[in-house]
Amino acid sequence: MTMPSFEGFVLPGGISSNGRLLPDVDGLPFKVASSAGASIIDEQGRSYVDYAMAMGATILGHAHPEVVDAICLAAHRGPMPGFAHSGEEEAAEALTAYTGPLRRATFVNTGSEAVHLACRIARKLTGRPMMVKIGGGFDGWYDEVLFGLSGSLEAAWGGARPVRGKMTLVRYNDLGDVDSLFAERDDIAGVIIEPLLANAGCIEADPVFMQYLVAKARQAGAIIIADEVLAGLRLHPGLSSQRLGWSPDLATMGKAIGSGVPVAALLGTDEAFAPIIKGEVTRAGTYNGNPLVCAAVTATMKLLASSDYDRLHAIGSRLRRTIEEAFGEKGIQVRTSGWDSVFSVWYADHRPHDYAQAMRCLNPEKTHRIHTELRRQGILTMPSPWGRMFVSFAHRDQDISVTKNAFCYVVRQLTDE
Ligand SMILES: Cc1ncc(COP(=O)(O)O)c(C=O)c1O
Repeated sequence: MTMPSFEGFVLPGGISSNGRLLPDVDGLPFKVASSAGASIIDEQGRSYVDYAMAMGATILGHAHPEVVDAICLAAHRGPMPGFAHSGEEEAAEALTAYTGPLRRATFVNTGSEAVHLACRIARKLTGRPMMVKIGGGFDGWYDEVLFGLSGSLEAAWGGARPVRGKMTLVRYNDLGDVDSLFAERDDIAGVIIEPLLANAGCIEADPVFMQYLVAKARQAGAIIIADEVLAGLRLHPGLSSQRLGWSPDLATMGKAIGSGVPVAALLGTDEAFAPIIKGEVTRAGTYNGNPLVCAAVTATMKLLASSDYDRLHAIGSRLRRTIEEAFGEKGIQVRTSGWDSVFSVWYADHRPHDYAQAMRCLNPEKTHRIHTELRRQGILTMPSPWGRMFVSFAHRDQDISVTKNAFCYVVRQLTDE
């Protein structure tokens, strides 16, 4: 998708992150006026049921009143004292309440920074240079990890394993490739693993693959980093990796932990945090753990501790079925992949099991067309063919019914042409 012109704006495309690129619909650019719960209101006053949910940066719903109140209170007390405050420890305790042996945490501002710090620690702990990320995975936008993203040439490599600087790739759900990786290299400091390959269209991890990758990495003395910036809190109020039966040494969290404020965190075991505790790695950042974001994390985690995850998953499951059936009734094969609180829609007769299959299932024109038609019907989705639908605690049965009608209308339109 090319940048909309937004003539007269200082910001290229009228935005500060390309993740916000949306096509104009009926000649109108999309600008948000306000957001609350599962809804977004645009500057024309139109209301949308939102399934982009700030790209996963809230699971409670937009502008949860208790989180907003906590942020406002912290702002009134002084948003940035610059020195220690007890809200920081309180937020760390709340975030680690369900993360078992990962009982240490430190705050940063973005998921990218959390991944950056995790790589620094892994290298310090092992004295080795090389980091491994998943082909097709997204772990942030700083140079080192901006490599092997979905849609890139490297992610679909055929010959020698791609290496750039001190970063290389491994294939998701491919046991043979794990064997090859550890046979090829003895300098691996750490492996960054997403419990759900979210940015490549929510490819679900095969449990056997995950156990194998973790065991092989441990055997080779490498540090296991779960990148849970997106996946964290989606299955329960803790790490999704642990819910799925494996526990990392370090875990990055972000997005949903602060219900929309710029905060992320690195969590780890005592052993993995030793370089920080001993002052052997640099940990800096003017805004890290400021009172505003800590208040948001504490309020979010308190709310999640008593939230009904079974209901969240039931709503998501109903939405997935609804979408598959809306297309199925008109003879169009559609599958969804991922978890009930975050999943992708594939215009194909199967859900992809690995990145190569995902590439073959991709249908950018159809995704774009359906995004546009749904927007006309008051439903907001990500327009990228690798995009995801996020379901939050704010989504109600009524939202799913409205969404069902919208999908049925769009499918009728497509098939009547
Ligand atoms: C899995 C994953 N890791 C890291 C990041 C980077 O987080 P941020 O955008 O907060 O830098 C993202 C962002 O989408 C992500 O999905």
